[in-house]
Amino acid sequence: MMISAPGKLILFGEHAVVFGEPAVALAVDLRMRCEAFRSPTYRVNGQALSPDRHAYIFSAISRYWKGEPLTVNTVSEIPSGSGLGSSAAVTVSVLGGLMSLSTGMDEPLLAERAFQVESEVQGRASPIDTSVSTHGNGVYLDTERGDDHLWSISMDTRRWHIHHLEVPELSLVVGYTGIHAPTGPLVSSVKRLVSTDPKARRWVEEIGEISREGARALRRNDQEGLGELMDRNHRLLASLGVSSPQLDALVEAVRPYSRGAKLTGAGGGGSMVALTDRVRETSVAIRKNGGRPIAVHTGVPGVRVE
Ligand code: PMV
Repeated sequence: MMISAPGKLILFGEHAVVFGEPAVALAVDLRMRCEAFRSPTYRVNGQALSPDRHAYIFSAISRYWKGEPLTVNTVSEIPSGSGLGSSAAVTVSVLGGLMSLSTGMDEPLLAERAFQVESEVQGRASPIDTSVSTHGNGVYLDTERGDDHLWSISMDTRRWHIHHLEVPELSLVVGYTGIHAPTGPLVSSVKRLVSTDPKARRWVEEIGEISREGARALRRNDQEGLGELMDRNHRLLASLGVSSPQLDALVEAVRPYSRGAKLTGAGGGGSMVALTDRVRETSVAIRKNGGRPIAVHTGVPGVRVE
């Protein structure tokens, strides 16, 4: 049984989404592949299953697998720690495998379970990464329910509605800084800032407005508009303190060759992304400034049995 799930990019709304603002995420053509089969003991990629080394797989199996021991092997095209959703994709593909081996694949239930697993391992999170990896294509996440609703996910007092977003074919270049910055502390630092500085609360709301406009621009395939919104979103994320000198340098370096650029994901390190038709020049600019360029495409399927 081989299951795959895509990586993702957050195009608009990271961090603001944690405060209930909308956000837009796109599935990209880098996939995690996972095979799962019954075996005498639990093994992952040739090692005994361990809660430390395999936190997501361990949590998925402990919560949602009641059968005999399994061997799980994963092969990833998604650089780990890059902000491209490798932990969501491993969680979704493994849970997809467990479901296929038992009751059969059920996307809303899978997205809900994958979010539970990510939350257990990472702490405070939104369901955006796990939902887009499950659904593919694009998702729009909001605290209000609108058109193209897919499923809703709750945790404590919070509730998110996940919507399908039809994404045009976009040419994007990711610039990975090579720096792994854990999401939790960055989310906490924004929370502290927002609770003490009224300006920061307004920046968060402005990011929410950018996500709403960005979803409309995607539907119209307005690439100029998308680029401008990405630039504005980056400036607001920098004001919230989650950019870094490396991310700012990469965003500046690609400006002459792209329609827009911003950090993507939690920030601090991780990656930025540029919307561009000039993939070669953009990639060279990223490399010259110490980043690793990764060209990606959108409009790809979510979790699936291969
Ligand atoms: O670190 P990533 O790429 O999974 O992005 C996290 C996005 C945040 O909005 C910062 C947190 C979240 O769970 O939504």
